[in-house]
Amino acid sequence: MDVAVLGAAGDVGRQVCTQLIERRVLPTSSRLQLVGRADGESARATHGLRADLIDAYDEHAPLLDVALSPDDVVADVIVVAAGRTTPARPGAATPRTQLAADNLPVFESYARAIAERGSGHEVVIVVSNPVELGVAVMARALGRHRVIGMGAWLDTLRFRRELAVSLGLRRHRIGGFVAGQHGEDLVPLWSTVRISGLDADERRNALAGLRRGRTLDTFSDEIVRAQELLTQVAADDTGAAFDLIGSWPPDLRVVARPWMTHTSGAKTANGTANATVSLVDTLLDGRDTVVAAQVALDGEVTVTGAPLDGVLGVPVVLGPEGWTRVLLDELAPDEERRLLACRDRIDTTLAHVGFGRAGGDMASADGPTPDVAPTRSVAADGPPPEGAAVTGSALAGGAA
Ligand SMILES: NC(=O)c1ccc[n+]([C@@H]2O[C@H](COP(=O)([O-])OP(=O)(O)OC[C@H]3O[C@@H](n4cnc5c(N)ncnc54)[C@H](O)[C@@H]3O)[C@@H](O)[C@H]2O)c1
Repeated sequence: MDVAVLGAAGDVGRQVCTQLIERRVLPTSSRLQLVGRADGESARATHGLRADLIDAYDEHAPLLDVALSPDDVVADVIVVAAGRTTPARPGAATPRTQLAADNLPVFESYARAIAERGSGHEVVIVVSNPVELGVAVMARALGRHRVIGMGAWLDTLRFRRELAVSLGLRRHRIGGFVAGQHGEDLVPLWSTVRISGLDADERRNALAGLRRGRTLDTFSDEIVRAQELLTQVAADDTGAAFDLIGSWPPDLRVVARPWMTHTSGAKTANGTANATVSLVDTLLDGRDTVVAAQVALDGEVTVTGAPLDGVLGVPVVLGPEGWTRVLLDELAPDEERRLLACRDRIDTTLAHVGFGRAGGDMASADGPTPDVAPTRSVAADGPPPEGAAVTGSALAGGAA
């Protein structure tokens, strides 16, 4: 299996390439294509990255090559990490609609080239923001089932970790998913959380203690207040801002910690690459696995009786040919309300560049749905253990 990383010389792309090699996800017989732009700086850095990776990992590196045009991208799995990001400094926010307008041409140029010249079987993992727009553009060109956005998986890993920290456990003992829009508009699905070793009553009590009586109806306001407070505290002492985050409930930390990490200037390339590479590993592994991802829905799941369509982060079964089904059990009422509101906010951003549900028919490029094999849940910080099959509700997966 060959992998292409678009935007390979960027902060995230470089980490994805490094982890793919260092974690030996790709055998030496595979090809890792480093994709940059043809213009000066990107082209130079992409060639330089290839030389550096060979210098570091020649003994076990896959074949490394460089492509500088969308027409030259050839791979089984394509990671989209090209394009603009929000400046990584305090107080520098780029509106989502601006990021959408900036990165739309990047998404479109690769979607067009892959649709015209590709094998028809590539699976695309969108990292670039807005993730939901990248998924919408790629899904329209390539078919819905071949395209996933990795933001919901990264948010899920963060949620599991924050829960694990609060409970004094390792992350692999926690299951549960984050849905919605990647970033500040995520939807932590508390109702899906499972903790290995605890029965239903013990889990309910443990989670009630962590939630402190809050519901998701106040979550957006809490996030705004948290960001204001962090901006004030970090103006004098960034370490104190991170300490303050540590005193907050786990779901608020899932949003606040990466936000602080990005605005500190460090960015979040390592965690982002870890989540992305675990998805690549799952795709190459060949077995069906339950993850969370942004996908283009076409009514395959209902919330409050209404079928969901448009791009949204949800738990899905991921197999070698893409995602096959959505696994969303009945949600709590506050989760349903936030998920629907989030779906509408995504729609507003996408409509801004002509890709809203009303303007863009995401279902029109509906590729074939692969057969569904028994599912299992991916471990929080790496590939799933061999043969870890899930029976019953897939939402219970991940912790056992
Ligand atoms: N989904 C997530 O969880 C997540 C997390 C972090 C970052 N991101 C997003 O990932 C993207 C990359 O972030 P970054 O920090 O690496 O940014 P970066 O600026 O460091 O790197 C972006 C790279 O993309 C390249 N590029 C731009 N247009 C290109 C094109 N048409 N073809 C090929 N390469 C092109 C640039 O030359 C640059 O090397 C951003 O959109 C960012 O918002 C997503």
